[in-house]
Amino acid sequence: MTVDTPVANVGRHLTGNTGTPQTGRGPNNVGGMNQELVLNNGVTMPALGFGVFQSPPEETSAAVETALKVGYRHIDTAAAYGNERQVGEGLRRSGVDRDDVFIETKVWVSDYGYDETLHAFEKATRKLGVDTLDLLILHQPAVDRFDRTVAAYQALETLLADGRVRAIGVSNFMRHHLTDLLARTSVVPAVNQIELHPYFAQPDVQKTDAEHGILTQAWSPIGGITFYPGYGDHRRSVLEDETIAAIAAGHHKSPAQVMLRWQLQHDRSAIPKSTNPGRIAENFDVFDFTLTDTEMAGIDALDTGVRSGPDPDVARPAFFDRVIPED
Ligand SMILES: NC(=O)c1ccc[n+]([C@@H]2O[C@H](COP(=O)([O-])OP(=O)(O)OC[C@H]3O[C@@H](n4cnc5c(N)ncnc54)[C@H](OP(=O)(O)O)[C@@H]3O)[C@@H](O)[C@H]2O)c1
Repeated sequence: MTVDTPVANVGRHLTGNTGTPQTGRGPNNVGGMNQELVLNNGVTMPALGFGVFQSPPEETSAAVETALKVGYRHIDTAAAYGNERQVGEGLRRSGVDRDDVFIETKVWVSDYGYDETLHAFEKATRKLGVDTLDLLILHQPAVDRFDRTVAAYQALETLLADGRVRAIGVSNFMRHHLTDLLARTSVVPAVNQIELHPYFAQPDVQKTDAEHGILTQAWSPIGGITFYPGYGDHRRSVLEDETIAAIAAGHHKSPAQVMLRWQLQHDRSAIPKSTNPGRIAENFDVFDFTLTDTEMAGIDALDTGVRSGPDPDVARPAFFDRVIPED
């Protein structure tokens, strides 16, 4: 096994963010600062990014343009979202320099395999209209075809070595998926993007990530998966949680802002999605207040251990086989 030496290298610092509004309302937002995280290969990434899952293509470019004008400098998309092209359009329309934006996208399962994943990189960059990616991750562990998952990751290693991507990683990997992957590959993932909100915090995955120097990135960071349609009636919306509402009222903030603050104070990356300009701005306005240790512990205690999204250990062949178009 030639796993890179794990290092406790997920650091945090505040960095000026070109174009960020100068709200200057608190110690964590001096000069319009965003929080940046240092990945295990030294690359820095804005902790708070902007998600576009389920953003209709016709609304995505406007949402991305708004986000970049508000001050976000990190966009998370995926081949499977069908809106990489519109993410690229939004970037260009915003007038923000491409080099000032951290672009993250994901390879879909139907493109797993070594050559297929190299080709998936070409598809993604063509659609986004960029030459390189800041972070390219595997969308699922795909347990029914894990050999192809490993081959896909080896293609990411090649892209990294060739300078086509600045960092590589995974998504929805649990402890055993990471253990298997690390045993068969050379580069420790920089990021593991997982379902993570107050009702489902996955402490075991977070611990595994930390042990290997992998940054945990929260998807559904304000609990979208606990309320948007299509994932079952058993769910309770974390946006309506009373504990979070009380904390929010105390800070004159919204529940979404409190959850994002909770994510950031735990040194995680979070990538909230919205297509609504007011909510896009609201979700970025989280650098001017601080949750107390008691408030942090109160939110930590809300974890139910019950997943709202799909179980990464369940194969979904028809879904996995969905073809990602060339253009
Ligand atoms: N790797 C994976 O398997 C995976 C899975 C899911 C998501 N993701 C990534 O993570 C990102 C975020 O996750 P998510 O989209 O599932 O959930 P989320 O960001 O936690 O929540 C999004 C939902 O909350 C609403 N919303 C946004 N801001 C709000 C606010 N301030 N107050 C009230 N409601 C608000 C949005 O509606 P409006 O748009 O109408 O505001 C949307 O319905 C995705 O966009 C995607 O990039 C990855």
